[in-house]
Amino acid sequence: MTALRTLTSVLAAAAAAAALVGAPVHAADADRGGPGHHAKTLRHAAPPGFVIGSAVAGGGHHVDQPYPDPFPNDRVYRHLLGKEFSSLSPENQMKWEFIHPEHDRYRFGPADDIVRFARQHHQVVRGHTLLWHNQNPAWLTEGDFTAAELRGILRDHIATVVGRYRGRIDQWDVANEVFDDSGRLRTTDNLWLRELGPGIIADAFRWAHRADPHAQLFFNDYGVEGVNAKSDAYLALISDLLDEGVPVDGFSVQGHLSTRYGFPDDLATNLQRFADLGLQTAVTEVDVRMDLPDGAEPTPAQLAQQADYYQRMLEGCLAVDTCRSFTVWGFTDKYSWVPVFFPDEGAATIMTEDFERKPAYYALRSTLADAT
Ligand code: XIL
Repeated sequence: MTALRTLTSVLAAAAAAAALVGAPVHAADADRGGPGHHAKTLRHAAPPGFVIGSAVAGGGHHVDQPYPDPFPNDRVYRHLLGKEFSSLSPENQMKWEFIHPEHDRYRFGPADDIVRFARQHHQVVRGHTLLWHNQNPAWLTEGDFTAAELRGILRDHIATVVGRYRGRIDQWDVANEVFDDSGRLRTTDNLWLRELGPGIIADAFRWAHRADPHAQLFFNDYGVEGVNAKSDAYLALISDLLDEGVPVDGFSVQGHLSTRYGFPDDLATNLQRFADLGLQTAVTEVDVRMDLPDGAEPTPAQLAQQADYYQRMLEGCLAVDTCRSFTVWGFTDKYSWVPVFFPDEGAATIMTEDFERKPAYYALRSTLADAT
């Protein structure tokens, strides 16, 4: 790239960033309307300071997703996203392969749109994600970089992406899924851990903190809702990092559940032990899938069990003081990732493909309204 083109793209990026400027929205200000019991939406039912979020589907392109980008195009979707929720998480739009598709090129447009939409609708944003073993671009995973170069690439990426949204991201999932199910660090399939060693995790948190000192910085994972080998491993790692003064602010559980398996009853107990370390906690990606072989429709019994799982997840979070953020991984089956990734399972969200509210929606709303 010539110096002039570099300068032009830097100026264009600065102008786009300037368009985002404005006072940040914090969780406490994300407006609710009120009074809980007569509330017509989830966000209006929520108690003060508690945010209820959704992932925002789409993000430009993804081979696994057989639908056009719904966020800019679907009016009903946009309307409900603004009306029902007080927190947004980009489902893919801030992941490496989307936001940093080539070594010398970032694509900020889709993420900028979400952050702007959130401002307009008085919503907070959860940034997702900076250090992960999945959805990394080929130029990175197949590139021939030295350890020093890779370290520089991660540092620049974090400074650039976190810096761009400085002051407008409430919580960042800095490290996603760094442990496997037995509680071992993913030193083989995670590029960063494999090439740079586990110390890179602390660096990622330090770099993110430098780029946005007010964002709360999280570890995020699935299969850590209850007390088990994996959540034990997080507790030990985070305790060590805190002792070393690394800026870790939170631990979050994704909450991708299936009615095939029992409900993780010790959710609140588990979250509380992280709260006891002085951490924020959050539930970040809830969906509850069910068996639907051969295109079957959900039965009333399946929908009731699903509603029960959603409700107990929310109750677990509400039971812990530092759990102030509860996010569903999409709110309509129309754009859910579940049928694509889990064959013969589906209907995992709180609204049907036609945006009809399911029992799970009403269970969440009344649970929020009952909370104080
Ligand atoms: C999923 C998205 O929903 C899909 O659209 C994408 O194709 C793959 O990733 N844990 C996470 C999320 O942290 O980023 C994943 O999102 C779901 C599992």
